[in-house]
Amino acid sequence: MIKYNGSKKIKTAVFISGTGSNLKNLIKFSKQKNFPISINLIISNKFKAKGLIYGKIFKIKKKVFNFDNKIFTEKKILSLLVKNKIELICLAGFMKILSKSFIQKFNGKILNIHPSLLPKYKGLNTHARALKNHDKYSGCTVHLVNSKLDSGKIILQKKIKIYKNDNPSSLSKRILKHEHKLYPAAIKKLFY
Ligand code: GAR
Repeated sequence: MIKYNGSKKIKTAVFISGTGSNLKNLIKFSKQKNFPISINLIISNKFKAKGLIYGKIFKIKKKVFNFDNKIFTEKKILSLLVKNKIELICLAGFMKILSKSFIQKFNGKILNIHPSLLPKYKGLNTHARALKNHDKYSGCTVHLVNSKLDSGKIILQKKIKIYKNDNPSSLSKRILKHEHKLYPAAIKKLFY
């Protein structure tokens, strides 16, 4: 695993599909003097992803790829990552599944944030599933990405109480606030 040596930040690409609140938050942290990573590239599979605005605001290079031909697209992404000397990928609300071969090429250097207490509720609609099962707690997890969906090594996890009157939207909003603490904390834990 790469480590932060206190001077040269780890060059990072953030992959998004939507709002990009985690992206915005990681950019904010990356500007702190001792935070281990810099955000050098934003990649999205959606031309209309709201989060792309942060590329413009913070002057970070951004690129959108449609994934119609996944193998071809991933090849193009890989060469862009190499060209930009990217050392780490942070998935932040990226709703495409990367191929095994892509993940192997960046083995151990892809992180993801997932809105559940993994290994519970891999995949989509995590909040609705937790509510349907009358769980007392839900949460969020930062993990390394391996070739099985939402199954890589867990770096950090935060448990959050579910209230009686929660619905998927209220729960998702509350968990998202904790995601904004958990993702930077996991990055510090990994790279220091
Ligand atoms: C976050 O809640 C993140 O955990 C989730 O999408 C949201 C993105 O929000 N990710 C997944 O569900 C991945 N399977 P953001 O665009 O505001 O960061």
